[in-house]
Amino acid sequence: MRTHHNNQLRMQNVGEVVTLVGWVQKKRHLGGLIFVDLRDREGITQIVCKPNNPNYAHLEKVRNEFVILVKGEVVERESKNFNLPTGEIEVEISELKVLSEAEQPPMIIADETDALEDLRMKYRYLDLRRPIMQKNLMLRHRLTKTIREYFDNLGFVDVETPVFGKSTPEGARDYLVPSRVHPGKFYALPQSPQIYKQLLMIAGFEKYYQIVKCFRDEDLRADRQMEFTQIDMEMSFVDEEDIYLLIDGMLAKVMKDIKNVNLPLPLPRLTFEEAMSRFGTDKPDTRFAMELVDIHKAVNHLDFQVFQNTLKEQGLIKAINVKNGAQVYSRKEIDRLTQEVKKYRAQGLMWLKYENQQFSGSIVKYLDEKAETQLIKLLNIQDNDLVLIVSDQTKTTNSALGFLRNQIAKEMGLIDYNQYNFIWVNNWPSFEYDENENRYIAAHHPFTSPKDEDQDKILTNPETCHSKCYDIVLNGYELGSGSIRIHNQDLQAQMFKAIGLTDEEIKFKFGFFVDALKFGTPPHGGIALGLDRLAMILTNSPSLRDVIAFPKSANALDPMSDAPSPVTEQQLNELKLDIRK
Ligand code: AMO
Repeated sequence: MRTHHNNQLRMQNVGEVVTLVGWVQKKRHLGGLIFVDLRDREGITQIVCKPNNPNYAHLEKVRNEFVILVKGEVVERESKNFNLPTGEIEVEISELKVLSEAEQPPMIIADETDALEDLRMKYRYLDLRRPIMQKNLMLRHRLTKTIREYFDNLGFVDVETPVFGKSTPEGARDYLVPSRVHPGKFYALPQSPQIYKQLLMIAGFEKYYQIVKCFRDEDLRADRQMEFTQIDMEMSFVDEEDIYLLIDGMLAKVMKDIKNVNLPLPLPRLTFEEAMSRFGTDKPDTRFAMELVDIHKAVNHLDFQVFQNTLKEQGLIKAINVKNGAQVYSRKEIDRLTQEVKKYRAQGLMWLKYENQQFSGSIVKYLDEKAETQLIKLLNIQDNDLVLIVSDQTKTTNSALGFLRNQIAKEMGLIDYNQYNFIWVNNWPSFEYDENENRYIAAHHPFTSPKDEDQDKILTNPETCHSKCYDIVLNGYELGSGSIRIHNQDLQAQMFKAIGLTDEEIKFKFGFFVDALKFGTPPHGGIALGLDRLAMILTNSPSLRDVIAFPKSANALDPMSDAPSPVTEQQLNELKLDIRK
């Protein structure tokens, strides 16, 4: 139908007769002329129609979002718009066809829209017309293309794994699908292809990858959807270094191809312990400093109950120095921050300001000269700095200050949104203690290999064991996670035992997998990265919903199709299911 798309015509096309198609983005009358911004997925071209033009009356009837075809000559504009790639020219209409009429759309179709999330979701096809959404999805397309090229060049085989299967061990709730053929039995949708990819290693494929949908029934957040996509891979005869090398290379190619950024390699690495100690979180945002500092040495001699209690209970006293924050944060503002850290179970937030070489603040009366000097040294305090202190149980202190560090960086504009800081976090503890279940659980998943030196301790000293597990973090988000797996059946049996699984449970949950390990398992390992998260960060989007064509809302609904919805009595009967009232 068309000769050009709407982002194509330039000054060198002046004089050509062209045919364009698209949606009417905007129509305006100016000095008797009609101007139309004609939009397609590539961009916008201005159409102009003079009052004596035979198409004038017809064009007057055209409204926003009509789909039209326009033929005409490319002419130089009188007043040029240098913000638009096609802004030096316009097309003077000689033929107009309305291909499709449109009702008044319920939302403004432009990058800046005031439509609320619910409306955007209900009319998702209109929301997806917005140029920014199209750009996001096209970037996502280029992302998967680049990643496929990378793995393909290295000899990885793309193997599809089933969607209907048995529960996988990623720790979230499963989505279940009732079987009609086997009433009372259920398939589980995969939380990840973890077991299958390991079986592919046992089967001898050596290098597997897949860009694959995963399903998890968990509370949704801006960076969590119930169905999401993983860049999943697994490789045989490798150790941790091979995986770092492989993924460093993939991310470098992604950054070059998508952002034209040369990522310095190797990507930096931190141990889990160091991440917690310096940033208070296992997913540190390293685009800004303001690291957490343990200040117990500066204050342990003070007669101050809060500090003394923490020391007695072997908690942590830590602080961050908000550079130049003294005047930014009023007492009222600090009260607000105090309320926010309470969500992290911190009992309180202590603060000190240093202005004109003098401390003031909530705990100033407890300080002595020694403490002041030591604090200045430890935290590199200068005039106009604000120091925020949490003294609590280890976990609480870290998470409260880790949260504050991120929050304050946002509020004070310390983040460069064009910067992409990847960092590996490794040497994770093998186990976490589950207070509710009163037992250890696998910190990653139960197929993760403990470090060689810890393998004989998993039953006797689980809390001291570390694993061959690694996370790749980008700008404070967990982007991916993986591990070197256990390939020895005895060790796998011990691992199951360490997390309190009985023989029956092992057989029921993973029997087929444990059997498979008996037939010659190569050493292997892998990782999965969240494709949606990567696309979200690379497009600077606030939510995964902006990089998924048809996502679910925060309360797991699709306002457009009204899913989930009730089913008929007949469908329930076929499945032999009753709905409990
Ligand atoms: P894990 O459970 O850490 O590891 O998941 C890997 C990555 O998948 C992304 N992700 C999500 N993205 C959006 N919404 C969600 N609900 C969601 N859950 C996870 C994250 C995360 O880092 N089988 C292992 C990997 C392995 O060991 O190889 C696994 O699935 O970016």
